[in-house]
Order: sequence, then structure tokens, then C-alpha cells
Amino acid sequence: MANIINFLPKETAIIALILLSLRLMLRIGIVGLGYWGPNLVRNFNNLTDAKVTCVADFDEKRLARIKSNYPAIETYASAEEIISRTDVDAVVLATPIKTHYELAKKALENNKHVLVEKPLATSNAEVTELIEIAERMGKVLMVDHTFLYTGAVRKIRGLMDEGEIGELQYFDSTRVNLGLFNPNWSVIWDLAVHDLSIFDYITAGKKVAGVSATGISHTKMPIEDIAYITLYFNDNTIAHITSSWISPVKIRKTLIGGSKKMVIYDDVEPTEKIKIYDSGFSVSTPEEMHQWLIDYRFGDIYIPKLEQTEALLGVAKDFTKAIMEGTRPVSDHQSGLHVVTILEAAQKSMLGKGKLIEI
Ligand SMILES: NC(=O)c1ccc[n+]([C@@H]2O[C@H](COP(=O)([O-])OP(=O)(O)OC[C@H]3O[C@@H](n4cnc5c(N)ncnc54)[C@H](O)[C@@H]3O)[C@@H](O)[C@H]2O)c1
Repeated sequence: MANIINFLPKETAIIALILLSLRLMLRIGIVGLGYWGPNLVRNFNNLTDAKVTCVADFDEKRLARIKSNYPAIETYASAEEIISRTDVDAVVLATPIKTHYELAKKALENNKHVLVEKPLATSNAEVTELIEIAERMGKVLMVDHTFLYTGAVRKIRGLMDEGEIGELQYFDSTRVNLGLFNPNWSVIWDLAVHDLSIFDYITAGKKVAGVSATGISHTKMPIEDIAYITLYFNDNTIAHITSSWISPVKIRKTLIGGSKKMVIYDDVEPTEKIKIYDSGFSVSTPEEMHQWLIDYRFGDIYIPKLEQTEALLGVAKDFTKAIMEGTRPVSDHQSGLHVVTILEAAQKSMLGKGKLIEI
């Protein structure tokens, strides 16, 4: 094609190049323009190989706001109008959790690549079915686990991969604030989803053996606004996640302990989000059971420099790259499946007041 363009008159060649580049641009439709959707519109709009051609929402005011900022984007009153278009290559869903399965299924069956906001769906069965449809249709199905695209979480994954942390002993994460109550799902589907996706990513998908969770509601609805999840494994790792919408302060802190080093990841810190402690303990081999000794080691603390680019731009780039180059996205549907499977088990465990649910 480039060779043919060389022989065309200059004006025709320019038009041909514009048409060629438009054809190669992925045409993205975004559904849901509430709290999160406009961030997706802004980031997808900043890509060079994709453009947002249309958006949909039930709310006219939300559509009008996007139209005034991006006049070239077409607006529609429902998801179906975008999903059924033949001039849309990929659909991004930023709608409430309960709509994800239905809308993603329709979009895949209408030959669209799909990026779904976290969590991918509401059950293991739903996600498994979506994966089957995506594979049958040859389409990319990805979930937006935004934190996997932050410099901090990528750094922790690197440390784990390089063996800097040693054997993982514990993962202890707290994500609390005075949050927006949602009448349709408990706090774990809103907040723990982040911690679970981070855990799954930094451990390269470590298999969870069982889940126990407790939580309580402080409203008349049976929707837990504070919850504690414990994950068990087939080795001596343990993971614990605290989620709350009823804390007066915002805490986003994760402790990761290994046999060699320990990491504190504090996402509220503006720059020094990660501190690596060259500290640990060792247990000397006991000669007699009552004589065992624990030695503590306190070494240096290291604060690494982190990449500062906006995570959501990384999500948008990874999605378009997966479509155009056939690469596997970091936040792929398997990551979505692992997280939803644990959330579903945790919700079941909360109903049974902490009953252990095997995975
Ligand atoms: N990745 C993150 O850090 C992050 C942060 C916040 C929210 N989210 C996720 O984004 C999703 C949306 O959350 P939100 O807080 O923006 O919700 P929201 O309630 O503020 O907005 C949802 C919007 O979707 C629209 N909508 C629903 N069904 C529709 C349909 N069939 N057709 C057209 N429009 C439809 C609603 O009118 C509403 O404007 C959720 O899955 C949530 O978990 C992710």
C-alpha cells in the first residue's frame, strides 16, 4: 500500500494516508459515563491507534457533558445502540457490576472486543461463560484491574519475580475510607477486588486453597459495608484483606512479607509509595522442642523510584495492543476469573459467618 501511495499525486496521497490511518484506528465505544466512564473516555482519546467514536448512557446530562468536551463523539441512550453498530471494533463497559455479564456477552456475540470494568462479572460461572464466548469469537476479553498498571505494583511484581522478597509469607492489605455505599453489592466487590487483583498479579496467579470472610452491614440492607477476608494456601502463606466504606480516614496500605525482605506499599503516599525493608527473622533448628530460638534481622530500608504514568492509560494501551498485535493483556480474563472466584467464595463465607469455603 505504501508503495502505491508513492506514485499518487501529492493531494491524493495525503487523502489516501488519512483514510488508511482512519481504517487502522480502532473504533471504540464506551458505555457508562458515571463516576469512572469519563476517565476511560479521556484515556482512550489520548491513544494514537484508537479513537472513541461513540458513547452511551441512560443519563442525558452525562452524555451532554461528554459531547461538550469531545464534539466528534456520537452519543447514544443505551448500550445496545453501540453494541449493534458494525462500525465499532471494541466496547468498553463502565456500567454497574450487575450489568457486566449481560452487556459483555451481547458485545462479544456482536463481534466486538470487550474491556469490562472491575469486577469482570458476579460469579465464576458468568466469567467462565464469557471466556468461552470470547475464545469462540476470537475476541479479546479484558478486565480493568487498574492497579496492575501502576509503577508501584509493577515494582513489587519485579521484586517477587527476581526473588528479592524470598518465599512469600504474608500479604496484609487495608483499603478503607468513608466510601460511597452501593445498595447493590457489598464493599468487597468495590474495594477488595483491587487487593485481590494485586495479590493475583504479584504472585503470578498463586493458587488459593480456601477463603474465609466476615462482614457486617450498618444499614437496613443486607450489604456488608465492612469486611475481612482471609485467604489460605497449600503452603504457609496467608493473606488478609480489610475493606470498609465506614472509616473516617483513607488508608491504602499493603504489607508484603517474605523470607528475605518485607515491603510496605502505601498508595496514599504521593511519591514514596514503596519501602523495602531488608528485615526478617530466622528460626534456628531446635535441638529440643522447647529451646527453639528466633533471630531478628534489621537492615537497610530502600525506597525505589517508580514510574509515574497514569495507570488507566496503561490499561487502554494494553487493550488496544492485545487487539492489534494479539498479545496477552496483563489484566487478562484469567485475572478477572481468579478475582471473581474469590469474591464469590468470600460473599458465601460471609453469609455463613466466616465458614471456610474451599476453592
Ligand atoms: N478501576 C477503578 O479503579 C474503578 C473505579 C470506580 C469504578 N469502577 C468500576 O466502574 C464501573 C462503573 O462504576 P461507576 O462508579 O462509574 O458507576 P456509576 O453508577 O457512577 O455509573 C454507571 C453509569 O452507567 C450507566 N448505565 C448503566 N447501564 C447502562 C446501559 N445498559 N446502557 C447505557 N448506560 C448504562 C448509568 O446510567 C450510569 O451513568 C463499576 O464496575 C465499578 O466497579 C472502577
